[in-house]
Amino acid sequence: MLCRLLVRAGAEVQVVMTAAAKEFITPLTMATLSRRPILVEFFDPENGAWHSHVSLGEWADCYLVAPATANTLAKMATGVADNLLLTAYLSARCPVLVAPAMDLDMYAHYATQQNLRSLADHGVRIVEPASGELASGLEGKGRMAEPETIVRAVEELFAEKKKPLAGKRFVVTAGATIEPIDPVRFLSNHSSGKMGYALAEELAARGARVTLVSGRTALATPAGVERVDVLTAAEMHRAAVEAFAEADGAVMCAAVADYTPCEVAASKIKKSDEGDWMLRLKRTQDIAAELGGAKGGRLLVGFALETDDERAHAVDKLERKHFDFIVLNSLRDAGAGFRGDTNKVTLIDRAGSEELPLLSKRETAARIVDKIESCITK
Ligand code: PMT
Repeated sequence: MLCRLLVRAGAEVQVVMTAAAKEFITPLTMATLSRRPILVEFFDPENGAWHSHVSLGEWADCYLVAPATANTLAKMATGVADNLLLTAYLSARCPVLVAPAMDLDMYAHYATQQNLRSLADHGVRIVEPASGELASGLEGKGRMAEPETIVRAVEELFAEKKKPLAGKRFVVTAGATIEPIDPVRFLSNHSSGKMGYALAEELAARGARVTLVSGRTALATPAGVERVDVLTAAEMHRAAVEAFAEADGAVMCAAVADYTPCEVAASKIKKSDEGDWMLRLKRTQDIAAELGGAKGGRLLVGFALETDDERAHAVDKLERKHFDFIVLNSLRDAGAGFRGDTNKVTLIDRAGSEELPLLSKRETAARIVDKIESCITK
């Protein structure tokens, strides 16, 4: 039934049987269901052909042992290699699932439980057995999980494989900050938030939990992303520092004001004909530099928006703010920077740089997240 379901779901199934398994179900049945000859021995007794456990281990995208007996589990946990199933397990490069099936006392025994824990500690997925009537006639936990449950576990594993950032948390800052001068006027910049939102969307699509700390924008929140709206650089600072405390990394894409008015007038400032109006400004906190100073082993990606001497300024920010890499975009490149749907960036780290062509912001985000992934899995 399990084999039939897997084949029906589009899997190519190569059945490996132990000698004991052949006592329960005939090789012919399994070969018919899987549409391939089954493998039992290292050598084909008919013609002496060698069944390479290494190539089996390389070929499979998933290695499923079902039903997994107490004996096989014990051998897997201790590295015994006395049949083809076990040698293929030892050379498997793919995720491994086991669906234990045995009598209730054998399943509950500390030795079996210890073997299961040890396998789980080494990344083997356990599909818990069900409770019910067992082959021995006893009732209890030990019956192999239903074939549908096992197929679901395999499908979940493949779904996770497509989400390489599952379990990771990222902070993304996006958009422009707004620094009020009075209730009517403010200082800001041209950032639309598009680049940062594309990054948040891409990170979430690859399974990361994303907190998007966003300046004012007209954009919709990407699916699956937690958004924290802020106005000023000081508010963005507070929100980013708080979210970074729980995060594995941050991408600093926002265009943050470097200066803010020393005072914010409570009422609208009236124009006057007596000379120029001088607005006193003070420095805002550099959010990226602060996160960089406290990042430890976490990943920090910065942006640099430049108009001249681009590379030198970007490299200076890479070092000063302790970024792992920085994304340089220059206003001298057509289609790059603020507001549009495209960008042209260069990814710079301490080993070198990679210049990307003009791409949509979503494609640019995908390339940036590719680099984030490779940094994380290094
Ligand atoms: O939003 P879009 O319209 O799509 O435009 C995208 C963008 C041009 C805004 C984006 O691609 C970009 O370049 N963002 C960074 C802009 C910027 O302010 O860079 P900067 O060189 O001033 O700052 C360097 C780095 O420090 C940035 O990562 C910035 O987020 C961070 N920073 C700066 C000042 C500050 N007080 N706190 C910070 O965290």
